[in-house]
Amino acid sequence: MMRSTVKVEAGLQRLAERIRGRRTTNLFLKQKVSRKLIREAIELARWAPNHHLTEPWHFHVLGPQAIAHSIELIRDNAAKKKDAAFGEFKAQAAGAIPGWLVVTCRKSDDEICQREDYASCCCAIQNLMLYLSEAGVASKWTTGAITLDERLFSILGSSSADNFVVGLIWYGYPKVLPTQTRKDLAQIMSELP
Ligand SMILES: Cc1cc2nc3c(=O)[nH]c(=O)nc-3n(C[C@H](O)[C@H](O)[C@H](O)COP(=O)(O)O)c2cc1C
Repeated sequence: MMRSTVKVEAGLQRLAERIRGRRTTNLFLKQKVSRKLIREAIELARWAPNHHLTEPWHFHVLGPQAIAHSIELIRDNAAKKKDAAFGEFKAQAAGAIPGWLVVTCRKSDDEICQREDYASCCCAIQNLMLYLSEAGVASKWTTGAITLDERLFSILGSSSADNFVVGLIWYGYPKVLPTQTRKDLAQIMSELP
């Protein structure tokens, strides 16, 4: 049955607002996000387009122990990059993040398949972030040094021989949401005859 034009337009507007309104932040309230909501977001994430239905993703939801170990990795990487004080600063900042989720992608020997699988994982992360955003939960997709650190895989109980990290997603109820801009459509779009 066809939906009424008014309902379609209201739905489109709502969807557009959600896509436009999702913002990256890492300034979160202490309040925890329920595991139920995170499971729902992951359930939706996997409906991303995915060539050959390889389902290359894995969603690692970190608990307190895994978070504590990850913070130590962040401290160590930052200290090595600069000094101990910077390590402490980064560890303190990471310690204020309430929700941690790592998304990995299965490696493929086939270059095209690998590209497509990575693309699918990125789509899945967007699904997840949009769903969380609709629930009032903000997030930040990070690809900092920890995501390239071999030691993260032992925290995840995963193998870097078979997987790579697509992103560490920090999430929580936001203290504030920044504003963002994008280029004009005319700068990024061509319409061909
Ligand atoms: C693949 C990817 C990696 C990112 N890595 C980082 C990161 O390491 N550090 C960071 O501050 N933001 C990171 N971001 C978030 C972007 O900085 C953010 O999306 C951008 O500033 C636009 O803001 P918006 O998400 O609110 O539109 C990443 C985003 C993507 C898609």
